[in-house]
This record gives sequence, structure tokens and C-alpha cells, in this order.
Amino acid sequence: MKLTILGGGGFRVPLVYGALLGDRAEGRVTRVVLHDLDAARLSAVTRVLAEQASQVPDAPQVTATTDLDEALRGADFVFSAIRVGGLEGRANDERVALAQGVLGQETVGAGGIAYGLRTVPVAVDIARRVAKLAPDAWVINFTNPAGLVTEAMSRHLGNRVIGICDSPVGLGRRIARVLGANPREAFIDYVGLNHLGWVRGLRVAGRDELPRLLADTELLGSFEEGKLFGPEWLQSLGAVPNEYLHYYYYNREAVLSYSQAEKTRGAFLRDQQARFYEEMKRTDASALSVWDRTRAEREATYMSENRETAGAGERDADDLSGGYEKVALALMRAIARDERTTLILNVRNHGTLSALDADAVIEVPCLVDANGAHPVAVAPLPDHATGLVCAVKAVEREVLSAAESGSRATAVKAFALHPLVDSVNVARRLVEGYTEVHPGLAYLG
Ligand code: G6P
Ligand code: MN
Repeated sequence: MKLTILGGGGFRVPLVYGALLGDRAEGRVTRVVLHDLDAARLSAVTRVLAEQASQVPDAPQVTATTDLDEALRGADFVFSAIRVGGLEGRANDERVALAQGVLGQETVGAGGIAYGLRTVPVAVDIARRVAKLAPDAWVINFTNPAGLVTEAMSRHLGNRVIGICDSPVGLGRRIARVLGANPREAFIDYVGLNHLGWVRGLRVAGRDELPRLLADTELLGSFEEGKLFGPEWLQSLGAVPNEYLHYYYYNREAVLSYSQAEKTRGAFLRDQQARFYEEMKRTDASALSVWDRTRAEREATYMSENRETAGAGERDADDLSGGYEKVALALMRAIARDERTTLILNVRNHGTLSALDADAVIEVPCLVDANGAHPVAVAPLPDHATGLVCAVKAVEREVLSAAESGSRATAVKAFALHPLVDSVNVARRLVEGYTEVHPGLAYLG
């Protein structure tokens, strides 16, 4: 079994490889091909993987290449975890947005649109190459904004591309934990778009345990989302939103806190990772321990501005290891070995949410087996959530259309229609600002 990782020089690749090392079952991945445009990043990550594998018998063999076609040929699975424009691009997404008084997070609002506009053309090229060179491969998309990028790729790969994110899984796990339920036995009734979904129920043996949580203010205040949103707001909603909805429900505070921060998240990660890759060029240090220290620091500071505005304090130790690699591995196992399981994934709607068309990519629990991922019927969303989902999906569609046509007016429309962009003039200035700093947006004539 061959797994190709696009963005193979990326910082989170060792998480995926670590998960593969723990998989001893038959039909596991035996070959990993890392593809990246940057050979130095590939050799840094290869060093970390070699240390990870050193004590493990029959560790999956790792090779690295900068040739995309070579990487894709013969792949059974392709993980796409690219970052167009690098972390410098992410920092610029934030900076340009904050200069206009709006948020520039890489997946939400103006920043998500800018990142989407420069990523979609590249993701579409990759999807076309996969369709040609590895037509039977399953593509697992990690690249943010994950829902939008998955939808762009699905136009060329159909149901063979599946988007993943660990935030709904983490959310479900936290709710199960506070309710004293086993996450493996619980069905999480969660739906929406990527980074824009709500848990409306948690069923154990057919019984919904969520009302018990919503009725208990103390219990609600005891976990990440309860601290972030406040128990009262969760009670008003009658649901637990994905943590990224903090950018919507507390937008004003989030913008303020981001604009006062010494460094935005993107700038922090840009500098942190520059140090990591620089350190990897020195041969003396243990690659794995430098990587692990850097990873721990990244995880501890995740969404720290949001937690600060909410007075939520430090992250719980149990929440630190994301689980992104676990979702990826569980998905591959289910497909490759027909091990039927339920996972929250980004797939085509196919009638699940009646307000959206069949091809709209949504985030929803799916039954996964050798035939792929099939969305499970969930309770309908309340109107306020349907409204947000439809508005943001309409924005995503404008992004896809701008990426296809190269129309600047369509790009302006995408920004202007976003609920977190409060004026058409702001949208115009955002397009100006972004096209100035991003060479990847030169196609917007
Ligand atoms: C969560 C999100 C991902 C994101 C990751 C890392 O898991 O769901 O989409 O990539 O956090 O965030 P960071 O700010 O550290 O890049
Ligand atoms: Mn995510």
C-alpha cells in the first residue's frame, strides 16, 4: 500500500507517520512518498521520520521527491496537505485583513477567502493530475480552507476526494468526556461546513445525552467550548458550536484581540517554523526532539487570542494532541480494509442538508467502508445556522468561480458577501491589499 503525501515537507507530517507506525495490521501502508516543492524541507522532515522509525521493525519505507507525477503514480492514497504561499502567506492574509478591521484567520472570513483564492487553482491542478495518473487513488484533503478546497477538487475527483479536520472529533470527544460517555460508543449529531458546524446531540445506545450537559451550567463551564462561548450562550443555542464559530459569535472581541496581539498566529508560526527548519540544517541536534518541542509549543498556543478574550485560560492537557492523524488513519483503514466505521468528514451533501445542492461539500458524520464515505442523515439545522451555512457556501461558490474565471469583480463579490466583511468598500480594499502581497493572486485581472 502506497501513500503519497503532498506537502510532504510540512511540519505535521511526522504526526501522520507516527500514526502509521502504530498500525501493525495487515493491509497497512508500507510505502510513504513525500512530495514537496522545497527539497530542504523534505530532508528536514525525512530526518524526523527516520528517528521515529529507528526502533520500529517493518516501519513504512519513506522516499522523498520534488516530482509530482512520480509521487502520484501507483499511489493508493494521496494526502494533500499543501500550503500555497507558505506561512508568510498566512501572516500576510492576517495583516491585510486586520488593516481593514476584519479578521484574517486562515479559514474564516477574509483570510479564508484570500487563502482559498490562491489555493484553489493549485488544488485543481493536483486533482487533474491525480485523475490522470492515479485514477483509483483516494485523496484525503487536509489543506485549509478544507471544505472549500475539497469541493474544488471534487469537481474533478467526485467522491474520491474526502476532506478531513480534527476539530469536530475533538469537540465530540470533549463532550463525551464531560458526560462520562465512551467517545467510541457515542454518535455525535454534528453538521455544517468545515469550521462552521454544531453538535446538536450525542447519542449513546440511542439516548441523547446532550440535554443533560446543556442543563448543567457547571459541567458546561468545564470544557474548552463551554469556556470559550460561555455556558449561557450554549444554553441559548441549545447546541455546542465548533470552536471556530467563536470568530462569528464574538467577532468584535476577536478582531480587537488579534489586532492587539504582538504577533498574529500566522506570524508566530512563520517564525517558529523558520527556526525549526533552520535548526534541522545542523546535523548535531536530534531532529525528533527539536520537532517535538516545536509541536508542543504550537499546540499549547492554539487559538490563544480567542481563549484570552473569553478568559478561558490554558488548554486542557487532554486536548493538546489534536488527533488529525488519527482521523486520517481511521479513514484509510476503513476504506482499504472495508472496516466500517463512522467519522465526521467533508463530503458532498447528497441531500443531507436540504438548503444546499447535492454537490455542496459539507461536514457531517459519514459511514465509511471500501466504497468511500456516505453522509448519515442528521437532524435539520435551526434557521440561524442554516442562514450562516448558506451565506458562507455562497461565498465559497464565488471563490470557486473567481478562481476559474480570474474575475476580480467576482473576488470582490466573494469578500463582500461574507457575513464577517461589513462593507463592499472593505471588500474592494481587501482585494487590492491581497493582490499586492500575494504573487499567487496575479491571475485576478
Ligand atoms: C485545528 C484545525 C486545523 C488547523 C489546526 C492547526 O486542528 O481544525 O484546521 O490546521 O488546528 O492550527 P494552527 O493555528 O496551529 O495552524
Ligand atoms: Mn480544521
